[in-house]
Amino acid sequence: MLLYWSCVLAFMATFRCTAADQPLVYGTAELEWNWAEAFKVNIRVQMQYPVSNGWRMALIFSQPIKKIEVWRAKVLEMKTSADQMTYALKEMYFNKNLAKGDNLTFAVVAHKSKKNLRPPGKVTVLFKGGTVIPILPTVPPPTTPPEQLIPILQLKPIDESDTGFKMIIDYQVPKAVPYWCISLKFTKNISTRNFGIDKAKVTLPREPICDSFCLGPRPYNENLQANSSLRLEFNCNKAKLFEAAPIAFFVFHPDSAQCEDFDLPVPGPVGPQESTDAELIRKWGNEFKMKLELQMERSVRGSWKITLKFSDPVAEISNLNIAKVAGKSKDRLTYYIENFPGQIQYANMKQCKKLKIEFGGKLAASSSNKPLTATASFERKEPEYAEVDPQMVCSP
Ligand SMILES: *[C@@H]1O[C@H](CO)[C@@H](O)[C@H](O)[C@H]1NC(C)=O
Ligand SMILES: *[C@@H]1O[C@H](CO)[C@@H](O)[C@H](O)[C@H]1NC(C)=O
Ligand SMILES: *[C@@H]1O[C@H](CO)[C@@H](O)[C@H](O)[C@H]1NC(C)=O
Repeated sequence: MLLYWSCVLAFMATFRCTAADQPLVYGTAELEWNWAEAFKVNIRVQMQYPVSNGWRMALIFSQPIKKIEVWRAKVLEMKTSADQMTYALKEMYFNKNLAKGDNLTFAVVAHKSKKNLRPPGKVTVLFKGGTVIPILPTVPPPTTPPEQLIPILQLKPIDESDTGFKMIIDYQVPKAVPYWCISLKFTKNISTRNFGIDKAKVTLPREPICDSFCLGPRPYNENLQANSSLRLEFNCNKAKLFEAAPIAFFVFHPDSAQCEDFDLPVPGPVGPQESTDAELIRKWGNEFKMKLELQMERSVRGSWKITLKFSDPVAEISNLNIAKVAGKSKDRLTYYIENFPGQIQYANMKQCKKLKIEFGGKLAASSSNKPLTATASFERKEPEYAEVDPQMVCSP
């Protein structure tokens, strides 16, 4: 079994580089074996600069791990936080000198905290030459994006319908190039039917759906001047009618006719999910009517779910205005509601958008004297790429 995990092979220049604190390099972790009580991953980091006297590595597991075994590195320390576990490692005498381009590789066997747990969805590998243990970079303020050797740029749909969406690549060419190509990758498969771009050539795969494409120049825009802007507009068909449009990432390859696959950046850290108390509008006998309003702190792209927790068991809820009941707990205190897949106006919500939900219901037992209350918590069901404007203040 070969599974690729978080493998952002990007190289970020840090702002200060001293001999002791060298730039952060991301490595890859590839799952090789998964046993009931442990799993084995192969770590690889390709050197972006020569390392002359040792290194430090952080392995971040997205689930608790009992212990790790590693033979070609020394384990220095271990840190646990709510949802992840980080091991710091250092070199052994035989791998402390590495030339630029060399691959540092070794296997790690991680013992699961519980038997038969699935291996973690994510193992992040951070590497630094020198003696400073690398940490995950904090999300940089929007005005100073980290400089990457190969910048991976994000595209968002600027228009969307039930069947398709539109995007625009607007790339400022940093230096003159005689030829170029662009690797374009979507966060979901799209339909390859009728996918064409006026000002670029697209190599279409034979499959009806695909997530990666290679764009090349037309004869009249092969040659690009320094500082000129390359603007490519395109419309695509969604792979499935009504689903939320994906976002995309692209890499511009100067002087090259060869696209290269790249790994999508790992979705940003998930902030707190929205939650609120429902308001009881009316209650008569066992029946009641409630409403709630959730304001989105970050944008939503794709399907979502709301967990409603009631203070008393509820036999049924009905007349939901913009969502459907997707399930309930055995004790009938918790109900799950989801958006209709066909309503993209509620699947795609901008930051600050208010979701107003009303519903009726019937209590399971005859009405107690306690007032009925309910809390609602919102959950995005698709991976999140932070789309949040920290400057934006939502009006209540
Ligand atoms: C390191 O690994 C990459 C990817 O497998 C490979 O392309 C490259 O040639 C390797 N470098 C060396 C020095 O073996
Ligand atoms: C796209 O579809 C292929 C096969 O049809 C699948 O293997 C792949 O995981 C899909 N990619 C995404 C991003 O859903
Ligand atoms: C491109 O723009 C930069 C900054 O705006 C400038 O320093 C540089 O000279 C320009 N290059 C060319 C070839 O015009």
